[in-house]
Amino acid sequence: MKSVTVAFIGGGNMACSLIGGLLRTGYQPNKIWVSDPHREKLEKLAAQYNIHTTEHNSEALAQAEVVVFAVKPQNMQQVVTAAAAIVKAKKSLIISIAAGITISTIQTWLDFDAAIIRCMPNTPAMVSSGATALYANLHTHEEQKEIAESLMRSVGLAVWLEHEQQLNVVTALSGSGPAYFFIVMEALQQAAEELGLTHQQARLLTVQTALGAARLALETEQSIAELRSSVTSQGGTTEQGVQVLQDGGIHELFAKALQAAESKAVAMSKSFIS
Ligand SMILES: NC(=O)c1ccc[n+]([C@@H]2O[C@H](COP(=O)([O-])OP(=O)(O)OC[C@H]3O[C@@H](n4cnc5c(N)ncnc54)[C@H](OP(=O)(O)O)[C@@H]3O)[C@@H](O)[C@H]2O)c1
Repeated sequence: MKSVTVAFIGGGNMACSLIGGLLRTGYQPNKIWVSDPHREKLEKLAAQYNIHTTEHNSEALAQAEVVVFAVKPQNMQQVVTAAAAIVKAKKSLIISIAAGITISTIQTWLDFDAAIIRCMPNTPAMVSSGATALYANLHTHEEQKEIAESLMRSVGLAVWLEHEQQLNVVTALSGSGPAYFFIVMEALQQAAEELGLTHQQARLLTVQTALGAARLALETEQSIAELRSSVTSQGGTTEQGVQVLQDGGIHELFAKALQAAESKAVAMSKSFIS
């Protein structure tokens, strides 16, 4: 990734993950700024990463060719509106990770045609295993898209979307997805304990099986259905277990879960339209 100066507005969990990811890819710390109202957070970040920190958003914005808005959605309007003049003067690329805030809403708050990329990362970014979807508006050029993609790839995998509305599905799938896998793991662990394993044995075997299945799916060309079929011998134990899940309507249940989460993402998005 070209070493442009990046300013993170908001130094919370997601900004920390992204800064850590950038530095692991060899990004120069003196090209990174972060602003946040909490002095103690900034002191920790400066000590850990040797990056520039400030309590004043305008100081970070004045340095940046790329601005990452990493504040909570409810703080976005105030932060974006206050940033507009500097961002316009510097023609900075805007990257927003705020859930549910559309590009047209950001555009309205900025009051000019900015290059804006919306991203939806997820919490496994904290351990460099994130899954992020990105959508760029028409004012964004190729080099800016490469910058945003490299930033997100520094904490995992990145996928481009053709339509902004798809971000609502992404929010329901990979944004909320860690919780779905946690609930599956929780259920498996509990069931194994009830069948006689210790808590620790059940936890380790459950988690490693989830990781192993995910790695197999990522590292082979086979479809997920083929992978399932290849570990399900006819008349075997897996077939018995899978049958119970299918009879219980697991596909329909996940379809309903995703529909409910997507509807909520759409509703949240509408509530932020200015
Ligand atoms: N965490 C995730 O998995 C995830 C996934 C996808 C997208 N996102 C999005 O990422 C964004 C950040 O999430 P997060 O979990 O990193 O939140 P977070 O930990 O709360 O970090 C946000 C930080 O911004 C600070 N802040 C508040 N107002 C500010 C202002 N005016 N100027 C500068 N900084 C300000 C907050 O301080 P206070 O605590 O005082 O408010 C906090 O330190 C959210 O919009 C969220 O939708 C998060």
